[in-house]
Amino acid sequence: MTKTAVIGTGYWGKNLVRVFYRLPGSELKYICDADSRNLEAVGKNYPGVKLTGDYREVLADREVEALAIATPAVSHYELARESLQAGKHTFVEKPLTLEVGHAEKLVELAVKADRLLMTGHLMVYHPAVEVLKQMVDSDELGRVYYIYAQRVNLGVVRRDENALWSLAPHDISIVLYLLGRTPVEVAARGGCYIRKEIEDVVFLVMRFAGGEMAHVQLSWLDPHKERKITMVGSRKMVVFDDMQASEKIKVFDKGVNPSNEYSSYTELLGLREGDILIPQLKMEEPLGVECSTFLACAAGQGPCRSSGQDGLAVVRVLDAAGRSLADGGKPVKIT
Ligand SMILES: NC(=O)c1ccc[n+]([C@@H]2O[C@H](COP(=O)([O-])OP(=O)(O)OC[C@H]3O[C@@H](n4cnc5c(N)ncnc54)[C@H](O)[C@@H]3O)[C@@H](O)[C@H]2O)c1
Repeated sequence: MTKTAVIGTGYWGKNLVRVFYRLPGSELKYICDADSRNLEAVGKNYPGVKLTGDYREVLADREVEALAIATPAVSHYELARESLQAGKHTFVEKPLTLEVGHAEKLVELAVKADRLLMTGHLMVYHPAVEVLKQMVDSDELGRVYYIYAQRVNLGVVRRDENALWSLAPHDISIVLYLLGRTPVEVAARGGCYIRKEIEDVVFLVMRFAGGEMAHVQLSWLDPHKERKITMVGSRKMVVFDDMQASEKIKVFDKGVNPSNEYSSYTELLGLREGDILIPQLKMEEPLGVECSTFLACAAGQGPCRSSGQDGLAVVRVLDAAGRSLADGGKPVKIT
C-alpha cells in the first residue's frame, strides 16, 4: 500500500480524491485544501482520511510517498518543487507549470531527487487514444498527413487563464503522444469577448518536422459541445468523437491514390472509398488508468506516458502559442 494525498479539492481535485480513495494499492492518508468549505464538502465523504488546510503538514509526513496536486496552475511550480524536495513522488495536474523555465527546473529536480514527476495529461490514458496510437505505430493509417481537434463548449469560463492554457493541454498532449514528437513551429490566433485580455476562443496550428500539421480549435464560448479528433493518413482516416456514448472511433478506409492509368472517372481522381469500421472499445475511466499508472511508475513499474518531460514539452508549445497569440498569430519556432 502506498500512502497518498491530494492537494486541492476544487472542481477537478475531488475526482482525484475519489479515485485515490478507491484505487487498489493506494491508501489515501490526506485530503488538503486551503479553502475550508471545499475541504469539508469533499472530506465528509471519506471517513478515516485526515483533512488539512496546510499542505506543509502533508509534506512533513514521512509516511506519505506519493501525492497529487490539483490546485490552480499558478501554484503548481511552488507546490511541486516543495513536494519533490520533501521526497514525494509528485503528480501535477495540467498544465505542469505556466513557465518553461519552471517546468525545466521541476524535471531537473525530479531527476536529482530520484522521484517520479508526472503530469496530469488525462487524455493520453483514454482507451480511444490508445487505439489511435496503435493505428499510428502499426502503420495502419499510413503516413500521418494532418490532425485536427475540436474542444469547444459553453463554459467553464476561467478568470485567470485563457482558453489556450485551460483547454489546449489535452489536445497538445494527445497530438504529441500520437506523433511521438514535438512541433517545430506553432501559431495561434484568438479572440477576447467576455473579458479583456483573456482569450475565450483560440485556433492553434502546430507544424512538425515530418511535414505533419495539427490544428486545434478551443473555446468556452460555443453553442456545441465537441470533443473530437480527426486524423488523416495516407492509407486511412480515423475520427475519435468523445461525445458519443458508444462508437467513439470510426475508421474510414478512404484515401487518394493518384495513378496515370485509369478506366473510369473515379480512378482518374484516384479516390478510394472503402468501408467504415467501428472498432470495439474496452472502456475504462481514463482518470483511474492515469492514477494507477502514477502509482505503478512511482514503484518503478512501467514507462510513464505523461512524465515531467512530456509536461515540459506541452508547456513549451503553450508558451510558444501564447507568444504567437500576443503577436497577432505570427508563427513561433520551437528549437
Ligand atoms: N485533467 C482534467 O481534465 C482537468 C479538468 C479540470 C481542471 N484540471 C486542472 O486541475 C487544476 C485545478 O483546477 P480546478 O478547476 O479544480 O480549480 P479550482 O479552483 O476549482 O480548485 C482548486 C482548489 O485548490 C485549492 N488550493 C489553491 N491553493 C492551494 C494551496 N496552496 N494548498 C491547498 N489548496 C489550495 C483551492 O482552495 C481550490 O479548492 C488545474 O491545474 C486545472 O487545469 C484538470
